[in-house]
Amino acid sequence: MRRDETVAGGYPLKSSMHLLFMAVAILGNSQRLPAQALAPTPPMGWNSWNKFQCHVDENLLRQTADAMVQSGMKDAGYQYVIIDDCWQVLREKNGNTVADAEHFPSGIKALADYIHGKGLKFGIYSDAGAKTCAGRPASRGHEFQDALQYAAWGVDYLKYDWCHTTTQDVRASYALMREALDASGRPIVFGMCEWGTAKPWLWARDIGNLWRTTGDITDQWDSKDKQQLGVLNILDLQDGLESFSGPGHWNDPDMLEVGNGGMTIPEYQAHFSLWAILAAPLISGNDLRDMKPEIQQILTNREVIAVDQDKLGRQGRRVNKDGDLEVWARPLEGGKRAAVLLNRGTTAQPVTVSWSDLDYPGHMTAQVRDLWQHKDLGQFKESFSVQVPPHAVVMITVMP
Ligand code: GLA
Repeated sequence: MRRDETVAGGYPLKSSMHLLFMAVAILGNSQRLPAQALAPTPPMGWNSWNKFQCHVDENLLRQTADAMVQSGMKDAGYQYVIIDDCWQVLREKNGNTVADAEHFPSGIKALADYIHGKGLKFGIYSDAGAKTCAGRPASRGHEFQDALQYAAWGVDYLKYDWCHTTTQDVRASYALMREALDASGRPIVFGMCEWGTAKPWLWARDIGNLWRTTGDITDQWDSKDKQQLGVLNILDLQDGLESFSGPGHWNDPDMLEVGNGGMTIPEYQAHFSLWAILAAPLISGNDLRDMKPEIQQILTNREVIAVDQDKLGRQGRRVNKDGDLEVWARPLEGGKRAAVLLNRGTTAQPVTVSWSDLDYPGHMTAQVRDLWQHKDLGQFKESFSVQVPPHAVVMITVMP
């Protein structure tokens, strides 16, 4: 054996190379963080789409990051500042996506750096098809190149849409991008946005960290128009999906409309409370730079956020329905329960939650706390009843 064919340890060069390749392969695989590490609780942040659609630029994103800090939202748990559609204009000859230089003159990397400098994380948007929903360049055929580009920019979260996909296989398309993100070497949360059409909750557990379960939310309580989804329309579509969600892989009933002007304060409180019961990602969608105090108070209600972010990660379900009156509930760490007493109707009515609905012994006595009044209400035996205003909720925790 020639000297240059051996390496330290006396292994022949060929088998040393083999060991090296194996090590690289193992390391390569281990770069794939378990989904649970990427999104152990539902992601919290802000996304530009609901309020701004295509009217986005780097100043809006920077000011939103500033506002997320100043408003107390960062301290309350919000992390991701996510640019949705319309940041991209074309592809260069080498295949790289080019950001709109008019609206993002400093470039995406500088924007990500600014957001990271605030102690926040940065999210971006693309689409599995030929074009995004707004007709911008999308990622089909460029998955690995785009993922590397995102990693180089410092992207922490990708929302991946499903427009212009013609005959593409949905599972293969999303799995391909997951693979590309893993290969980029940067941990990137993967938000799938195919609107629940192919029931991603049945197959995407190891692909997406969250997946949309419905079409787009609109800023209304209850839409009678079948083409539009308000809060209650989306809520009804979540019933039965609860067993598919958990740490690392969340059902996503779409971003929040809290503060966008189409609903009353009690309706926005109900929207936020119900999303927390559903263990939904809490992605605000309003103008954080210009929030009324009552909107800021909704978005930063730490007691409601604590329910959403509960470590057990168990999505709630509808445990009782009597006409317009419903109870939605979920188990929390330490044997507690959270419950939302919902009045969908137009007159105030009493709503009751019985302990047996919460999978407790019926005769039990438990401590009840109101999460919007921030008040302990006392001990209650068997059940708790409260007058709930129209189009509103009372949200409580129950502790035996
Ligand atoms: C789809 C998505 C929305 C938004 C737009 C952007 O409709 O569902 O959330 O991302 O595309 O064009």
